[in-house]
Amino acid sequence: MTANNRHNAVFLETFGCQMNELDSELVMGALRALGYAFVCEPKLAGVILYNTCSVRDLAEQKVRSRLGELAVRKRKEPDLVVGVLGCMAERDSASMLHKFPAVDIMCGPGELDKLPGLLDNAVRTRRSLAGNAAPGDESWMRSARQVALQGDASRRSGTLSAAGDTLELLDLSRSVSPIDHTGSAYVRITRGCNKFCTYCVVPRTRGAEMHRPPDHIVDECKRLADSGVIEITLLGQTVNHYCFEHGAAVSMKGVTQPQKGRTYKGGHAREVHVGERVTTFANLLHRIHEEVPGIKRLRFVTSYPRDFGDDVLQVMRDSPRMCRYLHCPVQSGSDVVLKRMNRGYSSGDYLEFVNRARAMLHEPGKGRPLSIAGDIIVGFCGETDEDFEKTKNLLRQVKFKNNFIFKYSPRPGTTAFEKLPDDVPESVKRRRCNELLALQQTISDDVGQSYVGNTVDVFVQGLSATETKRAKRAEAKKMSNGGVALTIGGQDVSEEAHDSCGTDCGCATTTVASDSGASSAIQLTSRTDGDLIVVFDCPSDTAPDAMIGRIVTTRITSAKGITLQGEML
Ligand code: 5AD
Ligand code: SF4
Repeated sequence: MTANNRHNAVFLETFGCQMNELDSELVMGALRALGYAFVCEPKLAGVILYNTCSVRDLAEQKVRSRLGELAVRKRKEPDLVVGVLGCMAERDSASMLHKFPAVDIMCGPGELDKLPGLLDNAVRTRRSLAGNAAPGDESWMRSARQVALQGDASRRSGTLSAAGDTLELLDLSRSVSPIDHTGSAYVRITRGCNKFCTYCVVPRTRGAEMHRPPDHIVDECKRLADSGVIEITLLGQTVNHYCFEHGAAVSMKGVTQPQKGRTYKGGHAREVHVGERVTTFANLLHRIHEEVPGIKRLRFVTSYPRDFGDDVLQVMRDSPRMCRYLHCPVQSGSDVVLKRMNRGYSSGDYLEFVNRARAMLHEPGKGRPLSIAGDIIVGFCGETDEDFEKTKNLLRQVKFKNNFIFKYSPRPGTTAFEKLPDDVPESVKRRRCNELLALQQTISDDVGQSYVGNTVDVFVQGLSATETKRAKRAEAKKMSNGGVALTIGGQDVSEEAHDSCGTDCGCATTTVASDSGASSAIQLTSRTDGDLIVVFDCPSDTAPDAMIGRIVTTRITSAKGITLQGEML
């Protein structure tokens, strides 16, 4: 790689949730359009970007350690440009700039549309300052201007105009091509969150809940379908709060904000008066399903257990291409803890919702059961053994497909951090986490077993974990012989594997895909519409590349947890 190439080569590492993955995708598209190229190893890059997550301290620690390493590298390569994007840049930019002088740019999630300009500036400044410095003189490094842009800390005002919401332009400018997606894509429908759960930084880092115009969303889905995407996951922190009031470019009024003339009935369907120009979440799902038939699978994450209307469940029931899957975090089974978390529902409310959803979507003999995944926090402030037992009971009752289980991590700026003592010892958090993982494993085993013998359609995502490891070993061997980097099935197999939940966020989960990998055929990994993993052999007469991004039919032959072994029919 020449020096000039290196200046335009970017390494971008993403931490955290699907929302961050989508942000990274949009940033990559915007930077590619300006001539930047993306590389999969930091050492090949002249620009290093971290898209960060602040939800738990572990994710932040990882970034801090990467930045520490980069400080050493930057002494040798003064023109290297380093940027911190996302929630850490929003939450902690002043102190981070001070602690990590190697950082040139900090850009919060509400300002990502400005990143291309900032980066261009930083690249030019670094290069000219480094080029003009006398040998051995490093003083210019401190004088090179660091830029910190925070977007939503003050939470935007309700009078925000269309023109002002340049962030919407970033979503609108999304580059859509078969190269960007292998059959599957995320589409954002809401940004931010208004819930203020006492443990959570998201309302502070991502700002107020805002809903994108339905026409923009439907258009984006159409463009994705035209480019070959067949599975779309709609994204929002509380996706079921989606509610767009026409007339505004980006609507801020969601179901959490009581409005004149509107009522909720016990957390069920929100009443929308005839003639009102409102698109509800149910309306939006229906529109996408009907207007974009090229999308063979439509799903959404993350649902908030309250405010989930029967209207949404009806659309799920009546729309054959909608997935039977809900990711609906309960966080705790104890009402006292839920109250302390400010979740706004009880364990009984949660059970009522799950039973209502299962009853509504139950189709005898159709083999498409509703599958429910969740998140749990153990060791939240004041959680007793009795509270914890209640969480275990709830897990048994709900029969979750899987749960992402987190140890409570106090986050500066949150209500819990300010007001509630973090009084559950680390050893107790660890024990509860392990106990819950073991319990969830037995529940997941039962869920997995219930599929054995069934015929299920699956969306093929790529090579199985075993196959990826095999390819990595082959690549390492090849590289040691002076070869070139390897991609199989369009996947960059040299990328670092994500943590267990697939999001690199430091959670403990029972969803690990641990396929056996004994066969000599190439193994593929795929998902059912209820989000169970199915591993199966690629037919010998078909290239793996040709399978990825397709929906095929398999018969399930065995199950280990929620990783199912299948054979293609
Ligand atoms: N500590 C531990 N887990 C947390 N989560 C959010 N904030 C915290 C925290 N401070 C978890 C919740 C949420 C998921 C995305 O992260 O379970 O649903
Ligand atoms: Fe955080 Fe609660 Fe909003 Fe989820 S609903 S993003 S946990 S504040």
